Amino acid sequence: MPPFFVIAIDGPTASGKGTLARRLARHLGFAHLDSGLLYRAVGLALLKRGQEPADKMAAVAAAQALDPSGLSDPALRSEETGKAASVVAALPEVRAALLDFQRRFAATPPGGAPGAVLDGRDIGTVVCPDANAKIFLDAGVEERAARREKELRERGAPIIEGAVLRDLQERDARDRNRAVAPLVRAGDAYVLDTTGMDAEQAFSKALAYLRSRGL
Ligand code: C5P
Repeated sequence: MPPFFVIAIDGPTASGKGTLARRLARHLGFAHLDSGLLYRAVGLALLKRGQEPADKMAAVAAAQALDPSGLSDPALRSEETGKAASVVAALPEVRAALLDFQRRFAATPPGGAPGAVLDGRDIGTVVCPDANAKIFLDAGVEERAARREKELRERGAPIIEGAVLRDLQERDARDRNRAVAPLVRAGDAYVLDTTGMDAEQAFSKALAYLRSRGL
């Protein structure tokens, strides 16, 4: 068992991982790492330079040069960046370059926090296989697309009919089928299907599970 309480949250795009992770971290006073931001930052660096996300050498160089302390660019949240992130994330060398930072975050949570919540796709399987608690968050694809559309609408982003669902399915397929660290539930993860649930219900269920894990 790690010295700090580590919570791994994995799941597909728009499953509500970020919302749940942030909320748990705030409630528990834990540090939170949205690992997707790291991949997004690599994708965005390439897009800004006009390079292709599939350009392996450029992607690996961007991952190795990444400063994880400065991930506040609003462009990190765009759909285009998310798509680029899932392309660079399929490259084993990119994943390797980002692994150390994530493991250090879990081993010594910043700010003197008593624990850490990390969310992503491979936290419970690769980054923190010894996490004290693992949650695999899921929800039906139609519902996830509807949630993402709502989020985009609230941000004032343009929405093309059907495009969100299509992009989400494409991204899911890429994340689930890649050779290295694919999106897959860890055998010892608690599966929380939030279809038809609101954020409050998901939070209560997650908290009950964490209590059962000795939190
Ligand atoms: O979670 P988010 O949508 O921000 O992640 C963007 C992309 O980064 C994902 O589609 C996935 O390809 C990649 N990712 C990953 N492993 C993680 C977190 C994100 O491969 N732990």
